[in-house]
Amino acid sequence: MRNIKPITDPSRPKVYIETYGCQMNVNDSEVILSILQDAGYALTETIDDADVILANTCSIRDNAEQRVWGRIDQFKLQKRKRKNVVIGIVGCMAERLKDRLLETVDIVAGPDSYRSLPALLEAVTPESPQMNVLLSHEETYADISPVRLDRNGISAFISIMRGCNNVCSYCIVPYTRGRERSRDAHTIVREAQELWDNGYKEVTLLGQNVDSYSWEDVNFARLLEMVAQVNPGLRVRFSTSHPKDISDEVIYTMAKHENICRHIHLPVQSGSSVMLEKMRRKYDREWYLERVDKIRSVMPDCGITTDVIAGFCGETEQDHQDTLTLMEKVVFDSAFMFAYSERPGTLASKVYPDDIPYEVKTARLNEIIALQGRMSLKSNEKEIGKVMKVLVEGPSKKNPEELCGRAGSNKMCVFPSKGEKPGDYCEVEVVSVTSATLLCRRID
Ligand code: SAH
Ligand code: SF4
Ligand code: F3S
Repeated sequence: MRNIKPITDPSRPKVYIETYGCQMNVNDSEVILSILQDAGYALTETIDDADVILANTCSIRDNAEQRVWGRIDQFKLQKRKRKNVVIGIVGCMAERLKDRLLETVDIVAGPDSYRSLPALLEAVTPESPQMNVLLSHEETYADISPVRLDRNGISAFISIMRGCNNVCSYCIVPYTRGRERSRDAHTIVREAQELWDNGYKEVTLLGQNVDSYSWEDVNFARLLEMVAQVNPGLRVRFSTSHPKDISDEVIYTMAKHENICRHIHLPVQSGSSVMLEKMRRKYDREWYLERVDKIRSVMPDCGITTDVIAGFCGETEQDHQDTLTLMEKVVFDSAFMFAYSERPGTLASKVYPDDIPYEVKTARLNEIIALQGRMSLKSNEKEIGKVMKVLVEGPSKKNPEELCGRAGSNKMCVFPSKGEKPGDYCEVEVVSVTSATLLCRRID
């Protein structure tokens, strides 16, 4: 069995890594650590004794980048105390800003260049900072066993593809992550098996657009099935589905396998077909609503969550109302909601003025957030009286006598403990709810 645990051997040089952005970046940090451990480094969780400080960064919105600039200033304080400390910025911001970052840090490495990190670390000196921001058409890190930077040893991410071939007009990801490529299906199944053998109970298959996964004759539906067949006790999740690509075959495959969790993250972005066209999402409001109907007709209990952008270029009050009415119609279980942030170099930044005033964007976002709060509660109220199988994550934060864990729909459940450990399954019945949690009783 390959070692998927962090090495903390004190005789080795120590790496500290901070991760920003999406789940993909969390998994990339695990890949980075695996590469560095193979090259003789060990992990440290404290910045004060690190020889190498890495930040794996995100460029999706301006505020994500601003946070990292603030952190770089703090990293530099470490350098004043210990001048041999190496500071590296990796990930999407490294790819986007390149030389501008190299002026202030020692190493800059983009998402497809992590195999070169040991060489960059070897070559770096205070006089010669090192950079590799080449994007690749092939790199999937398929052969690398990520070191699991824990999330309690029961749930792990598996990247099944990298990059993105869509060009949603607002989005920086295609520029920071490059062309889409799918990973060898056998290595994905092998990784799921390896996690199961190490006691993991849940895997989440990751890609910017999982429905366009394609490797030899394996499409996403087939891949889901292959991973589900690793073991009926292994829960399978995935993210993100693109509304234009999620197929009936995927929906039926989910319905067929009990261990594929009934949850789809289906980012709508806007409820206005005019906005969706300008966003280059390649579906309209009607198409989206039809996909939701299809999912619910096959799996009435399927959780559906979404992402929404408020205040995209030229958004009228009517467009905004269309988003609200769509949210009311669908009743999402939960949503990630953002104010539009113009990203330099994207299509939108070139052709559409970012013309919605800050106050209007914020007011619309707040309205969206408030509505989603009510919808989350409504969605949870529908669960009262239902029985669910929950994977225990650990003690509940509020009351250590109780456990918390997620239902298949991804909803958080809290219920009395009978001494179960993280990774055990419990059967519960929902008794009452808040907008964030299902409060349950035991029926096992
Ligand atoms: N691949 C996924 C999205 C990845 S980015 C998909 O296509 O659904 C995660 C979310 O960030 C997006 O769904 C979108 O809601 C938000 N986002 C992306 N670019 C943004 C921008 N420029 N401003 C605000 N939010 C943005
Ligand atoms: Fe960005 Fe669109 Fe690709 Fe998602 S599908 S990562 S929003 S370009
Ligand atoms: Fe993820 Fe942010 Fe990059 S959302 S893909 S880390 S820009």
